[in-house]
Amino acid sequence: MTAMDLTSNYMGLELRNPLVAAASPMSNTIAGIRQLAEAGIGAIVLYSLFEEQVRREAERNRYLSLLEHAVAEVDVPVIASLNGATPGGWTDYASALERAGAAAIELNIYHPLGNPILSGRDVEQRHIQVLTTVKAVVGVPVAVKLHPYFSSIEEMAERLDTAGADGLVLFNRFLQPDIDPDTLTVTAGFGLSDQAEARLPRAWIALLAGRLRASLAATTGVDDASDVAKYLLAGADVVMTASALIRYGPNHARVLLDGLSSWMSRMGFSSVAEVRGLLAVAPAADESGEERAGYVAMLQAADQGNGPW
Ligand SMILES: Cc1cc2nc3c(=O)[nH]c(=O)nc-3n(C[C@H](O)[C@H](O)[C@H](O)COP(=O)(O)O)c2cc1C
Repeated sequence: MTAMDLTSNYMGLELRNPLVAAASPMSNTIAGIRQLAEAGIGAIVLYSLFEEQVRREAERNRYLSLLEHAVAEVDVPVIASLNGATPGGWTDYASALERAGAAAIELNIYHPLGNPILSGRDVEQRHIQVLTTVKAVVGVPVAVKLHPYFSSIEEMAERLDTAGADGLVLFNRFLQPDIDPDTLTVTAGFGLSDQAEARLPRAWIALLAGRLRASLAATTGVDDASDVAKYLLAGADVVMTASALIRYGPNHARVLLDGLSSWMSRMGFSSVAEVRGLLAVAPAADESGEERAGYVAMLQAADQGNGPW
């Protein structure tokens, strides 16, 4: 198989390939980070440091020390991740992450539950404020990891883009604890993803590709190389993976990359640049019309027994 050109650009960072380790416990230790780099991953996002932890010195220092070691240890970009809800003093901590060598900062913003007075617009505004306060203190690129529950994903993406987001990461998966009715206990609810969950972020990436200045990172539901290929075809600049690395181990990164190269070779592609966005919704198209037309066509095909169902 001839060597494929997998080089990719994410928020101005030059990556050897478009596969990025999403924030997860895989990056809790230097050993885990080294294994990911050895398996060929293009960049690594560290697990998130939470707003509450930023306020505690010991946890802050532990994170900084892991980041510094990781940067010294591996030759791929290491992206730090901050998780918080309010645009407060903790956001200044991003500059310490930059000084420790973070190639970029990913903001994993959530809105706190239990405050019915906070309107949808207020929640959106907080995302913008957290982004702009972090952008004000760092020079490295800043990505915002979004959840899929905004009323208007497109407007939110455009507002973040205008406010200076260098990357958008679509989509985060929420912690969804379960209840065991027999033991009357709440059980941990962060199961690993499955491939079908990639459909929602993929549809949004296909719609947003080519319309924003910000890079697009896909996250959720990557299990095998075909999932990586599909996200790239939809228009993702990079494709992230967490569940599959946890399920199969860090060497699965090599399996995904080899599979991507084989698929490209089979299809006659020689670089990911040729693949990226081939099946995105054309920016000039009226996407609601296009999406609807596609949906109606699918329904009609299903009616005639040729549909996907
Ligand atoms: C065990 C576990 C821990 C995670 N921890 C974080 C985290 O600290 N910060 C974050 O932004 N996302 C976190 N995520 C979300 C992942 O980064 C990723 O966006 C999500 O799992 C979807 O990708 P996947 O389908 O490849 O798992 C975590 C996911 C898992 C499974």
